[in-house]
Amino acid sequence: MEQKKPTAYRYLMNPVSITGILLALTATILIVAFLVLEASSGLDNAYIGIFVYFAFPAMLILGLILIPAGSWRARKKYRSDPEAGIPPLPRLDFNDPNKLRLAIFFILASVVFFLIVGIAAVKGYEFTESTTFCGELCHVPMEPELTAWKNSPHAKVKCVECHVGPGAEWYVKAKISGLRQLWVMLNRSWPTPIQTPIENLRPARSTCEHCHWPEKFYAGRQKIFYHYAPNEDNTPREIDMLIKIGGTPKTPNAMGIHWHIGREVNYIAGDKKRLTIPYVAVKGADGKITEYMDPAKPLSRDQIAKSEQRLMDCIDCHNKPTHIYHSPGEEMDRHFASNTIDRSIPYLKKVAVNLLEKPYRTSEEAVAAIEAGINDYYAKNYPDVVRTQGPALTRAIGEIKGIYKRNYFPRMKVSWNTYPNHIGHFYTPGCFRCHDGKHKSPEGKVISKDCTICHTMLGQIQENVPKGKPVTEFVHPVDIGDELNNTNCSECHSAGGQDVAGGGNEQ
Ligand code: HEC
Ligand code: HEC
Ligand code: HEC
Ligand code: HEC
Ligand code: HEC
Ligand code: HEC
Repeated sequence: MEQKKPTAYRYLMNPVSITGILLALTATILIVAFLVLEASSGLDNAYIGIFVYFAFPAMLILGLILIPAGSWRARKKYRSDPEAGIPPLPRLDFNDPNKLRLAIFFILASVVFFLIVGIAAVKGYEFTESTTFCGELCHVPMEPELTAWKNSPHAKVKCVECHVGPGAEWYVKAKISGLRQLWVMLNRSWPTPIQTPIENLRPARSTCEHCHWPEKFYAGRQKIFYHYAPNEDNTPREIDMLIKIGGTPKTPNAMGIHWHIGREVNYIAGDKKRLTIPYVAVKGADGKITEYMDPAKPLSRDQIAKSEQRLMDCIDCHNKPTHIYHSPGEEMDRHFASNTIDRSIPYLKKVAVNLLEKPYRTSEEAVAAIEAGINDYYAKNYPDVVRTQGPALTRAIGEIKGIYKRNYFPRMKVSWNTYPNHIGHFYTPGCFRCHDGKHKSPEGKVISKDCTICHTMLGQIQENVPKGKPVTEFVHPVDIGDELNNTNCSECHSAGGQDVAGGGNEQ
């Protein structure tokens, strides 16, 4: 009777092949179950993804290798018995119904196998391109970027759209650098904070311009900057400006702020973070190169020849298009403006900013200290407010804790001013890295700091601005004399709304 058993059965019933069958079956069931679960419930978890798209398919493939390997070994053993008369290679004879059934089974199984592995591969590719994968798998080191991204104008744009972009070349590059990052993750050896600028970020031309094609820019944008004084009344201060973004920058007659990308502007950075720019070279429409230098830090010809020049692109101004952190002062201003924090609570901006800017070791410690600090302050100084505005104060405390969590990440040693944002010139030198009115060409041309080349004042509401009087120039809330034009705003404002006059440049 034993001899009648199909040979396939004999060959499969060995420990190696059985292990293979079990592995392949378990993997198939798990993959199918999770794919169904994902499709029906929208389940989206980074760790489950790693299993469904990588670990289980690997298990399936391993199983499918073990099955024939075991059979081959078993067959070899049977063949060592000369009595058995087994030929060196299996005979493919479809007249034998057993073999025919086996062949049909083999073909069907292959189809199912390629279907499952195919779906897993496509979904796996999608998964490695997803924000879940980029942002949440490495959730400790990516926490600041993910949080800021979620609260930004690009919250619906996937990480890979800016960090990888289209095309196979950059996909492969990203995956290779991903392997290195995986190593860093396993070692828990990431830098705190992560260093910028990202040295090998893909040139913005191939990422940003996919969605913001330069032929389609707007001429200007009206923007109101809301501020509130750090005084008892949290007095409103509003700056209403037209920002001259400029149109059609890829043409020789480009104007306004986006003029830079219509031209070839190269520069040499004086430091790794590109916060100082001692040298700028502009190629004119006629091909002539104009060189501007900071007379305070002139570079010699030799240094210019040896230094790396960077062609200015979107990232030289929009280095924080999505990982945007806000200063505590700015956050309080936004909450007052949108009425999510009650502005009538006396000194609230000042008290909140001071508490937010204190150094804390952990987020938990910070939120506890912020809550206690605000409660203590008002219990001691404004018991009336606690009595009459209790709920508003409680709501404010909740919002202020939220401000901390969005802009301070003690685990990564990141806070709102770790990464300077080059747009503007308020907290960081930004545009004034070149537009400081000092960078000069040998012919005497200066990169302008004229307050009207980039924006026009439309109006201003402030304690020291008479109501109804048209404003043509920005009026500083306190008289700082010539310093308004001669000192970079960031020299005084980098502290972010706290102790403005005493703040130094922290970078
Ligand atoms: C709109 C484009 C865009 C999107 C979307 C985007 N990034 Fe970025 N990211 C940038 C730019 C630009 C930089 C800054 C590069 C520089 O300064 O050199 C950056 C920098 C970073 C850095 C370096 C540290 C830092 O804060 O500057 C990390 C980490 C990072 N991004 C992770 C992510 C993750 C995770 C996501 C998705 C959740 C994401 N990024 C989505 C454009 C983007
Ligand atoms: C996949 C498409 C996509 C990519 C890639 C992309 N953006 Fe955007 N960007 C958007 C969308 C959508 C908005 C929101 C538009 C709106 O609010 O009207 C936006 C808004 C902006 C804004 C205006 C933000 C504001 O304050 O309202 C800027 C500036 C910007 N993007 C710059 C960039 C830069 C720089 C890059 C490259 C690092 C980039 N974008 C890459 C789609 C994209
Ligand atoms: C010289 C600095 C600079 C460069 C270079 C630059 N931008 Fe801008 N861009 C600005 C400023 C400043 C604004 C206005 C910001 C604001 O209103 O807050 C702006 C506004 C924008 C806006 C918003 C327009 C709107 O109406 O809301 C988009 C989108 C944008 N830039 C995309 C780009 C892209 C893409 C590139 C690269 C091809 C680029 N920018 C290069 C400085 C620059
Ligand atoms: C790397 C140096 C550099 C940086 C950074 C820079 N600029 Fe410029 N910008 C220049 C140079 C050089 C010129 C041309 C000066 C000239 O030839 O008159 C210029 C010209 C301009 C002009 C006049 C364009 C015209 O219509 O003729 C505007 C507006 C402008 N910049 C805005 C900005 C803004 C806004 C920022 C910051 C977001 C900024 N720039 C950052 C170098 C820079
Ligand atoms: C090279 C271009 C440029 C020059 C020159 C320039 N600014 Fe600005 N300024 C900007 C940009 C860009 C913003 C908008 C930043 C943003 O959208 O966050 C801005 C924002 C401002 C704001 C609002 C800041 C805030 O956060 O409330 C004030 C006030 C201001 N500028 C005053 C001045 C004064 C005063 C001068 C002359 C000493 C000046 N600017 C020169 C580009 C310039
Ligand atoms: C010498 C230091 C100094 C310089 C330089 C300086 N400021 Fe100020 N600024 C101050 C002080 C001090 C205050 C705080 C006044 C107060 O809060 O009552 C202030 C307040 C402000 C406010 C109101 C902020 C708020 O939240 O209430 C704005 C807006 C402002 N400055 C803009 C600018 C701009 C734009 C520049 C550069 C063109 C600039 N400042 C340069 C010292 C300076």
